[in-house]
Amino acid sequence: MNVAVLGSGRGSNLQAILESLQQGALTDVRICAVISNNSGAGILEIAKQNSIPSFHISQKQCASDDQLNDRLLSTLSQFGTELVVLAGYMKRLDRRIIERYRDRVLNIHPALLPRHGGEGLYGMHVHEAVIRAGEKESGATVHLVDEEYDHGPIVLQRTVPVADGETPESLATKVLEIEHQLLPEAIQLFAEGRITVNEKTHQVAIQPL
Ligand code: GRF
Repeated sequence: MNVAVLGSGRGSNLQAILESLQQGALTDVRICAVISNNSGAGILEIAKQNSIPSFHISQKQCASDDQLNDRLLSTLSQFGTELVVLAGYMKRLDRRIIERYRDRVLNIHPALLPRHGGEGLYGMHVHEAVIRAGEKESGATVHLVDEEYDHGPIVLQRTVPVADGETPESLATKVLEIEHQLLPEAIQLFAEGRITVNEKTHQVAIQPL
């Protein structure tokens, strides 16, 4: 299965996916392309080091949003993309892309959605909100992407305890470790064709092996 990864940052989730592939924990998957809106993003570096086609595609280079989305769509289809993975992609995906890849776009969020998600809740802001809310546990969520931020049906979730005196930084480290497990697991479920989405309830079901 051809998987395209979109990200804006350092790319540790892409690194985790590549390590899962090397260890054989993730199979029948090929990272066909990596796209970032940030030319200096570490995720592009990781792609280059692994000889994965990588692209800097951003609003700044394009005359319009339509042109940006044309570029994204043509790049995704050029590599036969079957699953789009957002790993720290800080831009909202346009409706055109979500429709083209309906129920085939995954996002990883560093909290237990539906709590502590939505516009502005990214990176450290998420962990600060979790601690401020006095949560006793946090974790990571992999979900299908729809037209709203951090809103689509949940595919996988895993929790970590929030310790007394936890700082946003220490929580971020614990949650990131979970993300690095959860995202490859979710991609493997797609590769095995085990993810179905109920037409009416739009809930995700994971079929047994
Ligand atoms: C991760 O914490 C992810 O949950 C969030 O953005 C971050 C990406 O980190 N959406 P990285 O670039 O994969 O290291």
